[in-house]
Amino acid sequence: MIIAIDGPSGTGKSTVAKSVAKQLKFTFFDTGAMYRSFAWWVLKQQIDPHDEEKVKVALTGFEYQIETDPARERRYIVNGIDVSMAIRTQEISTAASIVAKYPDVRQTMVKIQRKYGALENTVFEGRDMGTVVFPQAEVKVFLTAKAEVRAERRYRELLIKFPDLTESLSFEQILKETEERDRNDMTRAISPLKKAPDAILIDTSYLTAQQVIDQIIAQVKLKQKKTSFSMGIFYGVVYWLARLYLKLFYRLKIYGLSHFRSGSAIIAANHASYLDPPVVSISCPEEVHFLAKESLFRVPVLGFLIRHLNSHPVSRDVGDATTFRLIINLLQKGKKIILFPEGNRTADGQLQPIERGLAFLTMKARCRIQPVYISGTFKVWPPGRPFPKFFGRIACVFGSPIEWEEFEGLEKREAEKQITERMKRALYNLKNWYDAGAKGFPP
Ligand code: DC
Repeated sequence: MIIAIDGPSGTGKSTVAKSVAKQLKFTFFDTGAMYRSFAWWVLKQQIDPHDEEKVKVALTGFEYQIETDPARERRYIVNGIDVSMAIRTQEISTAASIVAKYPDVRQTMVKIQRKYGALENTVFEGRDMGTVVFPQAEVKVFLTAKAEVRAERRYRELLIKFPDLTESLSFEQILKETEERDRNDMTRAISPLKKAPDAILIDTSYLTAQQVIDQIIAQVKLKQKKTSFSMGIFYGVVYWLARLYLKLFYRLKIYGLSHFRSGSAIIAANHASYLDPPVVSISCPEEVHFLAKESLFRVPVLGFLIRHLNSHPVSRDVGDATTFRLIINLLQKGKKIILFPEGNRTADGQLQPIERGLAFLTMKARCRIQPVYISGTFKVWPPGRPFPKFFGRIACVFGSPIEWEEFEGLEKREAEKQITERMKRALYNLKNWYDAGAKGFPP
């Protein structure tokens, strides 16, 4: 799950986001610290932050790492130097706000943030988390507070952090800088600071941090409850019966579920057996859709079942365009659909080349791909065998999602090539991870 907390500085974002992450046992990611760290790198090389061309060049040498110290505090490391303290000065605040305006800088930062987001449950704190970086975030919060209140908080924070500066700090100056930064952040052409339409708005001016934290946690709990009860009754009953059957007879094991995100996605799996659609759908923790040959809808019992389990008929006669429209439609309604991008079932159980349709659908529907590797179904029910074997061992491994935004702006053919390559790599990586003993967390 991704929780996106946005808002201007001084709204208590960091305190709140850190605490929410701690209480929920999520990872905490402060994206402002990234822009600050980069600004530090720019200044260290004596580059004027206003000089966009030179700042762009500085991006190539920027190496960023986040570590956690023994007190469980985050340490930010730029090219081997711990800058956690140095990035909190007023000078860096101003420079960060300037370099954060440049499209190349944002693109680089967003890529790193999305990579982190795909790894685990995370609370992201920033300016554009809910609008640009994670528009699919399950919980979005936008914090605001009056400029005077924010400047006052910042003033006090600086006095505590840098007591030597007491003489030189003035509240009026900080208020002025706060307003200037707001203007910078809200009016920049790319990813300006704004509330996502589906974010909840909390004015923190007269609330304690705990009150804000409680409101956010309540939202998260509500969302978690909704997600876990999102199955219809019929779907739910068949789901649990099928799950029991697969667990008992095939010792089904599911890995990497924390890679699973809510919202629309193509669940893209390798395909070697008739068992693959049921294995993937019951491994997903929510209702999913899939395609089935039209003729199957006419088979007694099976036809009834699949019709009530979000199956959609496809026929060779109508052509790919109609099928693609059907899939895009489902994705645009926020659904998840299982597809097998290798095309038909394999004849030998090995991974096959990925067809181009997957990339086309991803970019058209602007959705995420959730790669899934299935192991064992080929042994249990290979093509040509009329019925599955009674027993066996099946596993379903969810890999980190591939986000369409990573390919945004690429020429169509190049995007297709890269998505297809990523999907192929994802399946091989998951297979290798599983074959090597399924240790730790799937890639
Ligand atoms: O949250 P902060 O004050 O540490 O952020 C420092 C600067 O980085 C701020 O001026 C805005 C910018 N920033 C951004 O543009 N996008 C983000 N996601 C986070 C911060």
